[in-house]
This record gives sequence, C-alpha cells and structure tokens, in this order.
Amino acid sequence: MGLKIIIPKETQPGEHRVAASVETVKKLCALGCIVMLEKDAGLKAAIPDSAYIEAGGIIAKGHKDLYTSADIVLKVQAPNKDEMALIPKGALLIALLSPHSNSDLPAKFAKAGINAFAMELVPRISRAQSMDALSSQSNLSGYKAVLDATEYYPHAFPMMMTAAGTIPPAKVFVMGAGVAGLQAIATARRLGAVVTATDVRPAAKEQVASLGANFIAVEDEEFKQAETAGGYAKEMSESYKKKQAELVEAHIAKQDIVITTALIPGRPAPKLISEDMVKSMKTGSVIVDLAVETGGNCEISICGEVIEKHGVTIVGHQNTPSRLAADSSALYAKNLLNLLKLIIDEEDIKLAINWDDEIIKGVAISKDGAVIHPLFQNVKASAQKKTSSTKATTKKTTTKKSSTTKTKKATATKSKSTSKKTKKDS
Ligand code: NAI
Repeated sequence: MGLKIIIPKETQPGEHRVAASVETVKKLCALGCIVMLEKDAGLKAAIPDSAYIEAGGIIAKGHKDLYTSADIVLKVQAPNKDEMALIPKGALLIALLSPHSNSDLPAKFAKAGINAFAMELVPRISRAQSMDALSSQSNLSGYKAVLDATEYYPHAFPMMMTAAGTIPPAKVFVMGAGVAGLQAIATARRLGAVVTATDVRPAAKEQVASLGANFIAVEDEEFKQAETAGGYAKEMSESYKKKQAELVEAHIAKQDIVITTALIPGRPAPKLISEDMVKSMKTGSVIVDLAVETGGNCEISICGEVIEKHGVTIVGHQNTPSRLAADSSALYAKNLLNLLKLIIDEEDIKLAINWDDEIIKGVAISKDGAVIHPLFQNVKASAQKKTSSTKATTKKTTTKKSSTTKTKKATATKSKSTSKKTKKDS
C-alpha cells in the first residue's frame, strides 16, 4: 500500500479553510499516494467532495476509515484533543500549529508519538519560498483588511470630481509593512487612496516606496539594526517605542483609515495605537487591527469583534485568511504540496525525510516521541515534570492576553452605551 495522506475537516469554530485543493489532490494522487478526505472537508472553501473525487481523492466513510493507517495528516489548524487521539502513532502531522502560543503542544505531540511539522516555522530562505504559508496567508489578509475598511468607512476611497462637488481621496496609513502590510498598501492604492506606511525594518522603506506610498518612520541607529537574520522585526526598545509613538500620534490624527499588521514572532504584538490616538481621529475613521489575535496593535481593539469607540470603528476580525477560504486554502494546500515533495521519495512512494535539511530542521517540532525543535525543548522538559504547573508557566502570555481581553471586553461593555454598533464575528 502506498503512502496514505489524510485531510480531516477543520474543527476550530470559524475555520473555513481546508488543507487540500483539487489541484494538490490530483498531484498527490498522480505521485501514487492515497489521498483520503473527511466528508465535506472543503465545502466551506467552495470545494465539494465530488471535485476531490474527480481529482482522484477518496471520501472516508467515517473517522475510523480516515485515520486508520494514515501516514501523513494534513491540517490547517492544530488538532484538538479528540483529533489528537485519532492520529496514529508515528504519523506525520503538518499544520499551522502556532507552537509559540500553544507552547504545551510540542510536548503533547511527542507524548502521543506524532511527528509534527509547524508550517509557520518554514525558514525564510529562497528555496522555501513556495512553502511559506505565513506569506501566502498574510498576503490575503492584507487585501481583505482593506476591503473590511471599505465596509465600515462611510466615504469612498478614490478622489471623485463630479458636477455635485469633489470627494477627496481617503487617507490610509498602514502600520507594519511586511507581507500583509505591503498587500494592504497595494490594495488601498488600487482603490485610489493616498497611502502612507511605517515599519521598523529599513528594508521596508524601499518596498513601500515601490508601491507608491510614503514611508514614515523613526530612522535612528536602532531602526538600522531592527531586522533579524530571519527577515523578521526585533522587539524595539522603550525609547524607540516612545519616539515612534510621538511620530505616529501626529500622523494618525490626520488619517481616515489605519490598518495595523505589526507582529514580532513569538511575542505579543507591539502596541502602536493608544486610546488617546483613537480619540484624536475624525468621526467615521476606521482602524483594522490584523494583529488582534496576538494582543492587537491597537490598545482597545477586541479580538473577534467590530466596535465603535470615540466615533471610530475598530475592526478586530479573527482568522482573516479563513474569510477568503477558497483562495487561502488553494495557496496553503500548494505550500503543503511543495513541502511534501521535499519529503516524499517519488520513486518508491514513501516518506524519505532528511532531518538535517535546513527546512526540515526549521519546521520539525517532534520526532519519535521527543521534542526536537530547540525553541520548544525546554517546554518539553518542564511539561514532563509537571504538566499542570507547566501550563501555568508556559501559558503566561496567553493568560496575560486573556485577562487583557477581559479588561478590553469590560471597556467595550462600558462603552456600548455610546457605541452605535458592536458586531460579533460570524
Ligand atoms: P510579520 O508578520 O512578522 O510582521 C509584519 C510587519 O510588522 C513586519 O514588516 C515587521 O517589521 C513589522 N513590525 C514589527 N514591529 C513593528 C513596530 N513596532 N512598528 C512597526 N512595524 C513593526 O512579518 P512578515 O510580514 O511575515 O514578513 C516580514 C518580511 O520578511 C517581509 O517583508 C519580507 O521582507 C521578509 N520575507 C521574506 C521571505 C523570504 O525570503 N522567503 C518570505 C516572506 C517574507
């Protein structure tokens, strides 16, 4: 029997993506793999079971049929407890596992004998670009963030000169000019907005300019050193943050729309917009906080909610890529296929993982019952000693975040009397 690759239906609420597209199922079947999917796995991403069947996939008769003898489990999000129990020992799980925020997961995978690869840890080297799921998903988020802004902004984006008068162009400010930010800039420009952007990495300056937007940043010595070897931003010093806040404060007051995308891997999102800055914005302005799931770039945004405070709508949708599930699934599935090609021996149709490959070293978090990723090995040690106390320690950030969220929710509840609209994410 060849390699059995399975694709369960995602279980997290609001997750509409699927880890296989018609194209990837076709390609994996052509390689000689057996591709089995859970019933309706792709339905929310606009892929009916019939399309998978046509591509060579098999629809499982139930969980037992799906998981039995699975060699590779492809998922979008980390499995829940029930799914974990179904994954056969020794199987390879590939998904967006968020190991930084689910810091007890690597030890759990190791304990369950699951070999797990975290797609967000694909190193940023040119050979791995086609596997870079963070980029493929962020790109769509940046686009969708602008569309979300258009939904709540009570004006048009482009300048319009009509017989009845002139409509000025919207002023859009993008904070964080990485993959999502650059796509947000391009999308806002296509809609006719006047766009400015900021980042702490010097490389972003030229990229912002190439898209026709103006770059605004505190360009001191620290700024020149702000990019890590991996291409990500470092956490900035308190003095830099203060200078940045002063610069941003004056600028934000003149903006109609602010889209924030700033992230620091493994850390809470930097707070870039204070409540006072929100107050300084014009009535009808919109903030879209794409960093809301890691604490938010705006002090008062609420994860999973759209609120209105001080006359400003603050959009805090969760899981933005899932809101474009057809395209995000297609790109993510292709990222997975490209990674699979690296680890499948196409002659013998079997797994042939080179554990010394730079890409594999980057993504592999557990192997043969042990946590092997250096970033998570300490967590494993304490997890083995005392699982419950580890939860308290390693989930510090999460706990802190949820208490912040609670405070935010309280603030939001307080503000509801003055809010015109408070809308829950669907
Ligand atoms: P990200 O999602 O981690 O962060 C988003 C942006 O926020 C980054 O540009 C970051 O510099 C910025 N940021 C962080 N702290 C900030 C602060 N305090 N103020 C303002 N901005 C702040 O990063 P993303 O978008 O995943 O990628 C960043 C860069 O990595 C890309 O622009 C690109 O140059 C590089 N990259 C390289 C790839 C490759 O070579 N294979 C693939 C993808 C990205």
